[in-house]
Amino acid sequence: MPGQKVDVQKPINYASLKGRNVLVTGGASGLGKNMVRMFAEHGANVVIADLQDSLGKVVEQELAGQGGKIKYIHADVTSFDSQVNMLKETLAFFPRNEIDIFVPNAGILSPPTQIVPQDPAGLADLKTPPPDLSAKVIGVNLSGVYVGTMLVARYGMGLHKGQVSKPAKAIVLIASLAGYCGAEGSVEYTTTKFGVRGLLRGLRKQLAGLGVRLNAVAPFYVETPMTTDAVGALKSVGIPTAPIEYVTEAIARLATDETAYGRSVFVMPEGLSDGGDDSAGGQGGESFSLKGLGEHWAVLVNGPMSDEVGS
Ligand SMILES: NC(=O)c1ccc[n+]([C@@H]2O[C@H](COP(=O)([O-])OP(=O)(O)OC[C@H]3O[C@@H](n4cnc5c(N)ncnc54)[C@H](O)[C@@H]3O)[C@@H](O)[C@H]2O)c1
Repeated sequence: MPGQKVDVQKPINYASLKGRNVLVTGGASGLGKNMVRMFAEHGANVVIADLQDSLGKVVEQELAGQGGKIKYIHADVTSFDSQVNMLKETLAFFPRNEIDIFVPNAGILSPPTQIVPQDPAGLADLKTPPPDLSAKVIGVNLSGVYVGTMLVARYGMGLHKGQVSKPAKAIVLIASLAGYCGAEGSVEYTTTKFGVRGLLRGLRKQLAGLGVRLNAVAPFYVETPMTTDAVGALKSVGIPTAPIEYVTEAIARLATDETAYGRSVFVMPEGLSDGGDDSAGGQGGESFSLKGLGEHWAVLVNGPMSDEVGS
């Protein structure tokens, strides 16, 4: 069983972040950049790993001198060698040569996938793999998160030296509401986010026994460079997005709350809630909140997030 429900009203122990060593992938933009700022402002040492070197260096420069040490590292999470290099450079940079908090946040969206190709002759094509199956979205959002989590948990947090020091280390996965209710048509993205949740469910107990708290944040739509088009479409029908600060708050909460083991936290326009991702919570099925989305929620639940199947 995972630990007790996350109390999202409890004050966050930001002071405990001082001197902690934090690695964030995809930290040059969007949600990652915002959480990097929060960690740095509270005195953590932070490594930003990303593909976008110029943006990453701007964040590094902006936050230099905030209290902790800060460094940008080029990394491509789809490459094992690149992740190993990221790990080695990160450990060499941090005092104590350990990672205390890891957020494998790098992610990309997939375009809608149609099972029937535009040219129906493609239905009989056995030479071309299905769209994107072996390629980017699954490589970044799922394999990249899996490999990073394994590398950091095994080698980055002290296990390879015999034991993990106290206080417990924390890994915060970035799932999505798409990993709970799905997003019809966004096949690869939805698959990867259910996969991230699978990583949480498959690994949380083992890691808890080793002194590593594995938790996940599952945001609704948030305005970032990744979601410009999707958010525009939502806004045009009056559906609110979740504020980016709420995601950062959820990250801070799970990074610091010593009682949070194996939980997910939903980030909705109206605030945070424990995802109920255990038998008591209907395996994540009972906690999904429709509050705050107003009448336009019907557009989503009857459309891309519908669970109606068949006629
Ligand atoms: N924005 C939302 O509405 C939303 C909702 C739920 C979950 N998420 C998740 O949050 C995470 C961050 O998304 P965002 O909205 O901030 O997007 P974003 O595009 O602003 O940031 C993603 C970052 O990941 C980096 N990245 C992409 N591929 C990479 C690779 N191969 N190696 C290293 N870095 C790579 C990008 O360069 C970028 O800096 C993603 O995992 C996304 O799925 C976002």
